[in-house]
Amino acid sequence: MTTKYQILQLLEQSGGRLLSGGEIAERLSISRTAVWKQISALQQEGYQITAEPSKGYLLKDSEVISAYEIQKRLQTHTLGHDLRYFPVIDSTNTYAKNTPDLPDGAVVVASQQTNGIGRLSRKFYSPEKAGVYLSILLRPHMIAMADISTITLLAAVAVVDTVEQLTGVRPQIKWTNDVYMNRRKICGILTEASIEGESGMIQSIIVGIGINLYQSYEDFDPSIRDIAGSVLTETGKRIHPADYAAALIKNFEKYYVDGQFPKNKKEFLKIYRDALFFLGETVQVVSFKETYPAVAVDINEQGELVVRREDGCLVALNSGEISLKLQRK
Ligand code: BTN
Repeated sequence: MTTKYQILQLLEQSGGRLLSGGEIAERLSISRTAVWKQISALQQEGYQITAEPSKGYLLKDSEVISAYEIQKRLQTHTLGHDLRYFPVIDSTNTYAKNTPDLPDGAVVVASQQTNGIGRLSRKFYSPEKAGVYLSILLRPHMIAMADISTITLLAAVAVVDTVEQLTGVRPQIKWTNDVYMNRRKICGILTEASIEGESGMIQSIIVGIGINLYQSYEDFDPSIRDIAGSVLTETGKRIHPADYAAALIKNFEKYYVDGQFPKNKKEFLKIYRDALFFLGETVQVVSFKETYPAVAVDINEQGELVVRREDGCLVALNSGEISLKLQRK
């Protein structure tokens, strides 16, 4: 561990007692100037460390998300052991796509994205200190194309479990993978697969997840203000962002690694179905060809949404280019 994080650890373990520069310097066998420099570096990372002249340093609660903060909380077997953290990045999905040496199970996390990507080439607004933005890179040995879209559903359920564990309130899912609370979207998921041209083999799957944690309604663009929310607006709970990141990675691992996906697909789809909130409602199905009203009926064994059109026909929708518009309540 670097000296900077050794100092942080000492401050964390001080139990609210001021630690003097001299004491830290002695315990780590470094100079007082080195202590002061590292404290400044920690403050720049966002740690709230107050310095009382001739008494010492005190660490206050700080909502810092970093590799150190996530790894400290991470209890996974494999996922996230290679963890790449960036205070600012264009997009964690883009980084994962452009970094060929990333191993299976690596996780890329950022505090802010300048070019966050959403589904259907939309932008995903990812301001600083407002949410958790992360991508999980998977390199499955053999996976059927049909199972790739189910991986996206795994991520949605992992988010639902995470928010419930941390706030006590269970969010719901809008097919395919938008996570909602009180009919406001609090999380978006974008899964991208890269396929080798010649062999058609899947090289990697990137599961990108963005959760809105702390925004107020006014923080959202007016175009989405009526339909977007954050965990804070919907539950009133403010939880450390690294708690979300670590629990989310763990919950994804539970379904993907521990559940030996796709062996658990059938049981998993039951859990997914139970988390959906609009079955039985009339929705607008929007594809690039047409838009039509239909009643959302069920999820089939492939994870497709079965809808009943107005003419009575049942149609199974594959996530592809289709989105659903809910009727306002
Ligand atoms: C959507 O709602 O349309 C999907 C949004 C997905 C956003 C996440 S944030 C982390 C990862 N990096 C990206 O650029 N996008 C995904």
